[in-house]
Amino acid sequence: MSTFSHIRGLGFHVPEKLYTNADLEKFVDTNDEWITTRTGIRQRHIVENETCLDLAHAASVKALAAAGMEAGELTHIIVATFTGDMPVPTTSCLLMERLGIRNRVAMDLSAACSGFVYALEVARALINLDPSSKILICGAEVLTSRVNWEDRSTCVLFGDGAGAAVLSAGQEGEPGRVIDTILSADGGPAMNLTIKGAGSAYPYKLGDTVGEENFVQMQGREIYKHAVRSMTAISNEILERNSFTTEDVDVLLPHQANLRIIEAVGKKLDVPREKVFVNVDMFGNTSAASIPIALADARESGFIKDGDLVLLATFGGGLTWGSSLIQF
Ligand code: UT7
Repeated sequence: MSTFSHIRGLGFHVPEKLYTNADLEKFVDTNDEWITTRTGIRQRHIVENETCLDLAHAASVKALAAAGMEAGELTHIIVATFTGDMPVPTTSCLLMERLGIRNRVAMDLSAACSGFVYALEVARALINLDPSSKILICGAEVLTSRVNWEDRSTCVLFGDGAGAAVLSAGQEGEPGRVIDTILSADGGPAMNLTIKGAGSAYPYKLGDTVGEENFVQMQGREIYKHAVRSMTAISNEILERNSFTTEDVDVLLPHQANLRIIEAVGKKLDVPREKVFVNVDMFGNTSAASIPIALADARESGFIKDGDLVLLATFGGGLTWGSSLIQF
């Protein structure tokens, strides 16, 4: 019998502090009407004293509890992030210590907003290599640590948070089966979405002041077009490869970057609006945390029901994108 990878538990955590669009109006040259109509975002959660590790830990504890698993049972920890606590050590190593376990495999994975779906596929490969693996994957971001509050074209878009999933091997009929994943990337348009500072191409010298290159810089229009095109194409590809049509899809769960992108992808795929999960209004764009927060939220709220076929579609800097099919 073949080995399949199953999601055994999901959890998410966001910091308590909220910035509504009205809060942003007080210190950014923007307004609720622009943000709501252009992005669908109404509020975002922002860290005060928490770090990426704190968010990752809280989400992971919930995912482990939902899986009915102890941290000690884990064999691998993967954290998808580009806003970890520090470049070295990795947030996954710090998370392992915070969970009270040692001598396991721990790695951070950097694929921007697509990081969680990339981690899902790495976990599936590891489970295929060794079916006794029990893997925690977590998407965690503190995007606001890299937001330039003087750049209104980006600062209104992002929020902080983390989402996690625990995976292990199982048989075909069991719930939470990851049926398939397709990943892709294209470095050609890479410079349309950057955080350059702290990279070796932009080395610091003692005494340098912090400049714009240390923050998110984005050609929004270019990213928007690419996001709609690539998420639609890769979703069609994964459906076809697994002999499904969009009519078989119970829930379309896209990366929560912008309501207009989400609705455009839904329309192009011909998935009815009531089957498309949206929570970008509540959390903003949380990058690698967006898909696992949405998954955990959709499962908790009952939007994803037992037996549902869920189509994930993600997109992010790199540029990277991907799609997964999961049977809950
Ligand atoms: O996570 C994956 C990566 N990120 C994304 O997927 C984001 C993709 N891109 C987008 O979501 C959209 O392109 C944005 C929401 C970023 C921008 O929407 P847009 O419809 O593409 O607007 P735009 O950049 O073309 O800007 C239109 C106008 C400009 O004014 P003018 O030049 O037309 O007078 C901007 O200055 O809106 C202005 N503007 C704002 N006005 C009020 C830009 N940001 C703001 C703002 N408040 N926050």
